[in-house]
Amino acid sequence: MPLQPEPLFTAQTIHKRIQELAHEIRAAYSDAPPLCLITLKGALHFGSDLTRAMAFSSETDFICARSYADTDSTGEVRLLYTPTAVLRARQVLLIEDILDTGRTASALIAWLEAQGAASCRIAALLDKPSRREVDITPDFTGFTIDDHFVVGYGMDYNERYRELPDIRILEP
Ligand code: IMP
Ligand code: MG
Repeated sequence: MPLQPEPLFTAQTIHKRIQELAHEIRAAYSDAPPLCLITLKGALHFGSDLTRAMAFSSETDFICARSYADTDSTGEVRLLYTPTAVLRARQVLLIEDILDTGRTASALIAWLEAQGAASCRIAALLDKPSRREVDITPDFTGFTIDDHFVVGYGMDYNERYRELPDIRILEP
């Protein structure tokens, strides 16, 4: 499957938007900085750039989930890595690459709440609302996109293209 030659978002556009998001998130957590949870692997670059731009003096940890869609597309989400940070009574900011069906983020939020997190908000670089299957909206969104499969800046297609500095559409 070829990549579209022109980026959907250039590295420069991504950088600029992340500075704006960081500003927005700092204002939302003016009383106390959140525990930042970067979802692996897709949000590795976004999480790294966003946490540095926010410049909170707080904890950063990781969480890794894999979603399996069965034939009924109910979708099952399995946790492959859970944070070592204490979650009870914490304000958690979940840093996601993309919300597609919303199943992964929704399962992660349910798990975080079950661990006793005081609040969970989502910062997603990309949002594809047209594909949503569960009722969930990011609290902070980088860009809203149409129904395209995108790669680059951490996002993959079968583990390829994560290293691209910009975000590209993969042609079907
Ligand atoms: P969900 O459908 O919202 O549960 O999305 C699950 C995961 O699928 C996301 O966190 C991404 O890692 C991945 N994903 C969804 N859409 C795309 C895409 O367009 N490109 C790359 N990965 C995607
Ligand atoms: Mg992924």
